[in-house]
This record gives sequence, C-alpha cells and structure tokens, in this order.
Amino acid sequence: MSYRFETARDDYGDLASGAVLRSAPGFPAFPVRLASEVFQSALDLRGGTGPAVLWDPCCGSGYLLTVLGILHRPRIAALLASDIDGDALTLASANLGLLADGGLAARGTELADRARRFGKPGYVEAAAASERLSRRLEEGGGPVPHSVRRADVFDPAALARAAEGFAPDLVVTDVPYGEQTDWTGDHAGAGLPGMLTALATVLRPDAVVAVIVRGRRVPPIGDVRPRRKSRVGTRAVALFAAGDLDGRSRSMP
Ligand SMILES: C[S@@+](CC[C@H](N)C(=O)[O-])C[C@H]1O[C@@H](n2cnc3c(N)ncnc32)[C@H](O)[C@@H]1O
Repeated sequence: MSYRFETARDDYGDLASGAVLRSAPGFPAFPVRLASEVFQSALDLRGGTGPAVLWDPCCGSGYLLTVLGILHRPRIAALLASDIDGDALTLASANLGLLADGGLAARGTELADRARRFGKPGYVEAAAASERLSRRLEEGGGPVPHSVRRADVFDPAALARAAEGFAPDLVVTDVPYGEQTDWTGDHAGAGLPGMLTALATVLRPDAVVAVIVRGRRVPPIGDVRPRRKSRVGTRAVALFAAGDLDGRSRSMP
C-alpha cells in the first residue's frame, strides 16, 4: 500500500520505544508511521473538523496512543487506554503520563540524571529527545487529557465503564496476534468479531473503528464490510463504521 496521509517518511527517532517512551519484554512497539497513517485515515473517514476522542481498547504498553498524542496533539481531544492485563496498564499509565502536565519534562530530568550517574550516551540522547517532544506537545496544544482503565474488550459492561465520561469517536487498535500477545479472558475465543460486537454496543454509530492485525488481511467479520482496508508490510488494516457493526455483527459466526 502507499501511504495516503503520512506521505513524508519522518524521522521518528525521538519516539523510539525504550528511550523516552517506556517498553518492557512482551510489549511490542507499533510502527510509528503506520500508527500515524491509520489515525489520519480513520479521522478522515469520521469526517468533521473536531478533535477526536481516541480509544485503544487493547492498549498494551500504550505506545500507539502516546505516539499519536504527541504527533497529532491538535487533532486529539482526549485519549482512552484500556486492556485486560495489569502489567500492560501499569506501563500504559507511565507512557500516557508523559502527556500530562510536566510529564515529558520530568522524564527528561530523570533521563538526564541517569546520564550523569551512568555516563551512557543513550541517556543523554533520550534526555534531549524528551525536551524536543515536550516542546512539540506544548506547541500542539499542551497536556492531553487521558485515562487508563482495565476492561475486557469482549465485555460490553466493562467497556461501558471504561468509556464513562469519554464518548470516544475513534478507535485505533492493534489486536493480539499470537506471537508476543494473545487474546485472554473468559471470552478469548470470541476473537475479532467478539471485540467488534462489544465495541459497537458502547460507540456512537458515526464512530470509526480501525483494526490492525498481523497477516495478509483482516478476517471477515460476518457480512459487515469495512469502509476502508489496506495492507502495509506484515500488517492488514480495516476501518469500520461503528453503525455498520451494530446489530448485524451479532449474527457473525
Ligand atoms: C498487540 S498488543 C497491543 C499493543 C499496543 N497497541 C501498544 O502500542 O503497545 C495486544 C494487547 O491486547 C490485550 N488483550 C488481550 N486480550 C484482551 C482482552 N480480552 N481485553 C482487552 N485487552 C486484551 C493484551 O493484553 C495486549 O496488551
């Protein structure tokens, strides 16, 4: 696929996982250019000029959301992260905390302190990256309202609690693909159709759900057609209108 929105290959070095943004074993980072492309495509499909309330209901480390919050601050009103896994939520809180008032400045101070104590050039570079990201965030509109909540993505009641006070109109999510992450929870067998069915119960019909999977294509979701689909490297992307998922997705296999 050719990139329609993130056409210039930017230097995303400051956003590298494990530098300013935190990482941990078992929490794969998502490609930044692809995240940016999918977000912009989903926003374009949603239409309108208002900023998005963006939700990743399988947020893992929160890397994808944090990166989007920094890159697209003017187009984001709030970020909502949820996941079933406690360790993921701890990491996501640390990463999304960077977008709070003074979050990146504090991370910069921490990294500069480590640079002094351990004399590693990597920390010096990360401290400088933190400052640059902090400036970028300020220029884009400052701290991003956000919340990190536990929810099983197959459980409509848990999703409704997670979304309380947010009214998300854009979902971008990189779902488990069985190498480093798997579906878990009591309804794990429901897979992607189960997730979309549950999400449709809490989203307004004009919300857009962007799903990214590993593989050649996003598996068919009953008779629901994605509004857009594409392939990038080893991943496939499908964009759904929440209103298309409601009801019909209930009869999915
Ligand atoms: C590929 S990772 C997401 C990576 C994330 N987008 C990031 O940028 O770090 C998939 C996530 O789905 C979560 N997950 C698995 N089963 C789930 C469920 N039933 N409900 C919610 N999240 C689930 C896993 O805990 C894992 O964090």
